[in-house]
Amino acid sequence: MSTQLQAVDLEQAIIFKELSKNRRSIRGFLPQQLGQEALNSIFETANYAPSNCNTQPWHAYVASGALRDQLSEQLIATIGQGENVLDYPYEAKYFDEYRKRQLDVGILLYEALGVTREDREGKKRAWLRNLEFFNAPHVVFIFMPDWCEIREAIDVGMYAQNLMLSIAAHGATSCPQTILGYNSDVVREAFGIKSNMKLLFGISFGLEDKALPENQIVPDRATLSENTHFHQ
Ligand SMILES: Cc1cc2nc3c(=O)[nH]c(=O)nc-3n(C[C@H](O)[C@H](O)[C@H](O)COP(=O)(O)O)c2cc1C
Repeated sequence: MSTQLQAVDLEQAIIFKELSKNRRSIRGFLPQQLGQEALNSIFETANYAPSNCNTQPWHAYVASGALRDQLSEQLIATIGQGENVLDYPYEAKYFDEYRKRQLDVGILLYEALGVTREDREGKKRAWLRNLEFFNAPHVVFIFMPDWCEIREAIDVGMYAQNLMLSIAAHGATSCPQTILGYNSDVVREAFGIKSNMKLLFGISFGLEDKALPENQIVPDRATLSENTHFHQ
């Protein structure tokens, strides 16, 4: 027996689908900061994420203003020179359809930026934009305590998605960035965080610069039949 959803649920489902689709990784922001009230509301909403045994193992450190600028400079001076301190290793080895998707999104982004396959300088420049937080006025670094393992990382991932949807619901945009976890010592020192907190990644966020071509890209998604399996 199946149940039809009520009209109110369908309306909410449509709104939620739009919000989920509209949250895209944005790689160019306007300089205006979000107000503290908006920041509080965004992060308070994100805290409703579920977690195993309600442990809520995420810790978010937000940098704006002078600290944001200092961090960008320090990350460019270290990660930009290959000086990496990763709390969790990352090999980026993808195969089969996963490799294809990785390549496809890279092509999409470089095409939008006008960077050709041979243009090493252009690629380096695009990569360095990550460490400029794509001009975003805010960046949040996501940590978890050192006793955490993969189960707790699942919780933190749920928090991060809640946070990005919350940012989108507040009319702002974001870009999650693995590369912002490439020098955890610099980030810990800048915020005065103890070494028992481990850095997973960062998220740049703020208002989208809608004029930029790199913000027009919409990476594909797999179809339902490729990754979702209904059985009775
Ligand atoms: C955990 C995580 C790390 C990511 N790291 C980076 C990154 O370092 N730099 C970047 O430009 N995009 C990064 N992305 C963005 C992905 O490329 C993006 O989510 C994917 O291409 C799908 O596009 P969409 O977010 O616009 O839907 C990351 C995404 C996730 C979820």
